[in-house]
Amino acid sequence: MTYQSITPERRAAFGRKLRAWYRLNARDLPWRGTRDPYHILVSELMLQQTQVSLVIPKYAEFLSRFPTLEAVAQSRPARVREAWSGLGYYARARNLQLLARTIVRDRAPSAIPEHPDALRKLPGIGAYTAGAVASFAYERRAPLVDTNVARVLTRVFAPTVNPRTHSGHKITWEIARAVLPRTGATTYVHNQALMELGALVCTARSLGCPTCPVRSVCDSYPQ
Ligand code: ADE
Repeated sequence: MTYQSITPERRAAFGRKLRAWYRLNARDLPWRGTRDPYHILVSELMLQQTQVSLVIPKYAEFLSRFPTLEAVAQSRPARVREAWSGLGYYARARNLQLLARTIVRDRAPSAIPEHPDALRKLPGIGAYTAGAVASFAYERRAPLVDTNVARVLTRVFAPTVNPRTHSGHKITWEIARAVLPRTGATTYVHNQALMELGALVCTARSLGCPTCPVRSVCDSYPQ
């Protein structure tokens, strides 16, 4: 399979270049200054279908109205819905409250789980969000793939793979796992950097190769 052809040297060079670029070019986004699992979860749910510029003010507003997961659990659903207004896709707000109530009821202390498998059992948490919370809040060595990350990883390592197909999606997750760094702390930077490269350089509209930090190890760039 495609991902097995990634040599250790190439994986290491990819990670090193990607993270060095991120350290110099990352946007200063509010959820990158925290490891609070509840804050990370709110940001990731908001970012799923909504662009960053719209999420920034809504994220701050939501957290000032609902500073804790307990506050979400105890609220009337209409208040959570209202705090979500403008973001659309209100199922996300409903699921957040269901999740908050589940955790407050079942877990003592009311803690958001660390492991992707435990996270995925919660309402509204898919594979991406589970990986994001595990790696961004708990610095666990967990992979994540969203549309941006899938585009970056397939362009670099498997240009013939279409991540929108069932088998392509599976291969993309395998690549994400295969290129993870060794430690959880580095995984935080690595996963943020993959998302940032997909948002700023390797976008849907442009390959962005002239400024791409990983073009020397990329199969979509003529070497
Ligand atoms: N989209 C989803 N998660 C994100 C993150 N942590 N930073 C920037 N964009 C994102």
